[in-house]
Amino acid sequence: MREIGPERRPLVAGNWKMHTTPQSAVELARAIVRAEPPDGVGLVLCPPAIAVTDVARAVVGTSVQVGAQNMHWLDSGAFTGEISAPMLAGVAEVVIVGHSERRADFGETDEMVNRKLRAALAAGLMPIVCVGETESVRDAGGARALITAQVEAALAGIDSTDAEPLVLAYEPVWAIGTGRTATPEQAAEAIGWAREALSHTLDAPAAQRTRILYGGSVSPANARELLAQDGVDGALVGGASLKAADFIAIARSAVPKQTSA
Ligand code: PGA
Repeated sequence: MREIGPERRPLVAGNWKMHTTPQSAVELARAIVRAEPPDGVGLVLCPPAIAVTDVARAVVGTSVQVGAQNMHWLDSGAFTGEISAPMLAGVAEVVIVGHSERRADFGETDEMVNRKLRAALAAGLMPIVCVGETESVRDAGGARALITAQVEAALAGIDSTDAEPLVLAYEPVWAIGTGRTATPEQAAEAIGWAREALSHTLDAPAAQRTRILYGGSVSPANARELLAQDGVDGALVGGASLKAADFIAIARSAVPKQTSA
């Protein structure tokens, strides 16, 4: 019997990227709350930084959590344009770390991801750390090695107790925003690799309790099959999270799995 436990409650997070204004973000958050999110599935909304405070206010009194899409690893300093974990911790509960767009477009390295993860955990935030391979890496047979290396680097020096709130997201770069989702089998296989990599740095209970999401062109049409896979604990949703009805439909697909298997 493999204990999964209550920590592996399904989680569906929306990454709104550079979309919405503070006003339309609040409207979207309200529409999501009005659409009656399902019980038993955690919901996270990650609007642009400028809307985090307003969206957090809009969901007060609900179980919906709010997060940022990025943060700096230092608490404060001369870093124009950046926000820090302690700043976020006053208004948000979650932060996405190491999204592939940040890695590819803004030069975020594994070392920065590690520093951000440490800062997020120190500030009491729930980090969603993203890993995933490009198409050329997958074609060359290197997906497993890359995912393993990204997980190990992100977690370097972090002990199991501190990693308690950690969530991972497996997001194959070739599936993000392309409409080309991983097959359920590919998602489950890669998430298995990621969980094994977690066990290289964390103790076995911590590796088992860490939720691992799938992300990359998740839609109401494919969510049920993806999220039914063993080991897939939820979804990180980009495009489809910008429509309340689609996001809620995906959340309804995240049926809690058996507590043991
Ligand atoms: P997508 O984005 O759902 O639009 O593919 C996912 C993500 O980047 O987190």
